[in-house]
Amino acid sequence: MNRRQFLLGSGAVGAAGLTLAAGGSQFLAAERGPISLRSRMTSHVFNRPGVGSFETQGLISLADKAPPPVVRLTQGERAVIRMTNGLEDYTTMHWHGIRLPNAMDGVPYLTQFPIGQDETFEYAYTPPDAGTYWYHPHCMTMNQMALGLTGLLIVEEPEDVGFDLDVPLNLKDFRLDAEGQLRPFFTPRGAARGGTLGNVSTTNWSVEPIYDVPSGGLVRLRFAATDTTRIYKLAFPDVPGRIIAWDGHPVEENIAWPTADKPLWLGPGQRMDVALRVPDSEGSEVSFTGQFGTSQRTVVTLRATGASRRRDLAELKPLPRNPIAEPDVANAEIRQLVFGWTPDGKGANNGLCGSYGYTFWSIDRSPWPGDAVEGVGPLATLELGKSYILRLKNESPNLHPIHLHGLVFKPLRSNQRQLPGNYTDTILLMKNEVVDIALKADNPGDWAFHCHVIEHQKTGLAGYIRVA
Ligand code: C2O
Ligand code: CU
Ligand code: CU
Repeated sequence: MNRRQFLLGSGAVGAAGLTLAAGGSQFLAAERGPISLRSRMTSHVFNRPGVGSFETQGLISLADKAPPPVVRLTQGERAVIRMTNGLEDYTTMHWHGIRLPNAMDGVPYLTQFPIGQDETFEYAYTPPDAGTYWYHPHCMTMNQMALGLTGLLIVEEPEDVGFDLDVPLNLKDFRLDAEGQLRPFFTPRGAARGGTLGNVSTTNWSVEPIYDVPSGGLVRLRFAATDTTRIYKLAFPDVPGRIIAWDGHPVEENIAWPTADKPLWLGPGQRMDVALRVPDSEGSEVSFTGQFGTSQRTVVTLRATGASRRRDLAELKPLPRNPIAEPDVANAEIRQLVFGWTPDGKGANNGLCGSYGYTFWSIDRSPWPGDAVEGVGPLATLELGKSYILRLKNESPNLHPIHLHGLVFKPLRSNQRQLPGNYTDTILLMKNEVVDIALKADNPGDWAFHCHVIEHQKTGLAGYIRVA
C-alpha cells in the first residue's frame, strides 16, 4: 500500500467510480471529473460494544449500507457535483463553509428551488480555500441529517503538505432503540431546550473505530461535528501533536491541546484539523475520547502499524494561508443580532422542506417565518466590500452554534472568555454570551444565517444576511 493510500471502509469510496479516497494528495486533479451523488434510503449495521450489533433500517445516505462518501476537491479547481435526489421527499445540498457563488449554496427558496424526486441539480463552483468542510441537505434538513446524510468535504491544498496519512472523522450520533431501530429525532421538548440528543455516538458510522496508522508517522486528523445536536467535548491523547486548522482555516492563534479536565468543545457544524505524531512502537494505540453526559467514551483509536517512519512534527510547515480578506475592524460598522426564546406560536412555512408546527426561537425577536415564505427581508444588509462587526447576543440559557453561509468571520471578543482569533463560519455561543465577530462582506448574495442545532433552526432560529 502506498503511504498515502488509505480507505476508511466503503465510506471513503465515492460515486461514479471515482476514488474519493481518504488518503490523498497524490490523486491528481486529472483523475477528477464531475462527481455524481444520489441520495437513497439504506440500512447499516451498527456494532455497539457490550450491546450487540443491529441492522438499522430507514437510514439515508449516498451509498448503499455505508455512510456518505468523503468528497475531495482541490483548492482553486472547478468542481462539478451532480446531486440526484433518490428520495420521495424534496432535498437540496449545501456545502458548509465553502465561499462559493450564492446560486450554488443549496438553500431552498433563497438560492434554488428544492430538488424533487429523481431530479438532478448541478452544483459547480471553484473552492477558494483549502481545508475541512462538510455537506448536508438544507431542505428536509432535520429528517435527512438525523437519518445519516452528512459527509465530509475536503478541499486539498494543491501542494503536498507533508502528512503520511489523512484521516477524516465524521462525528455523528444516531437515536436508536434497544433493537437498533430509529427513534424520533425531533421532540418539542428538546427543540425548546438544548435539542434532542442521540444515544449511539459514531465516527464514520462506526462505534469506537480503530484505524491503522503508520508507526512514527505524521497523520492529519480531520474532525467534523456533523450531528444535529451534540456538542462534542473532546480530550486528546498525551502524544506530540497540535491543532493546525479550525473550521477549515489554518489557525493563526493557538488552540490548547485538550485534556479530560479541559476538553475542547466542538459544536454542531464545526471542524478541527489535528497533526499528530504516531508512537514508534508497532501495535501501540492512542485514543481520542469524548465526554458524553457523565461518561468518557472513545471517539477513535489509532493503532501504530509497520516499522517506524521516524517522522518529526517539526518537519511540518505551517499550512498555507487561505486567501481571506482581512476585515478593517477600525472602520467597521456594528450590527447587533439577538438570539432568544420566543413563546410558542404557529410553525414556520417551510414549503416542501419540512415543518414541525412549532416556533420556539427567534433572531432579533422575530422567529423565522419559514423557508418558503416570500418577501421576508434580510436580518441585515451589508454593503459589498465593506467591513462589519456583528454583535451576537445570546439571550437564552441554551447554547447555539451560529453559522453564516458564504463568508467567513473572525471572533474579536466575548463577554465571558478569551476567544482565539481564528477565521470561522460557525461559532458556539455560550449561555448569555455576547460575542463580537468581524468580517469583510466580499461575497454578494443572500446568505443563510442560523443556529446549527437543527431543531432550533427549524423552530425559528434562522434568517439570512444580504450582501449587496
Ligand atoms: Cu451547515 Cu445552513 O448549514
Ligand atoms: Cu453552511
Ligand atoms: Cu440554537
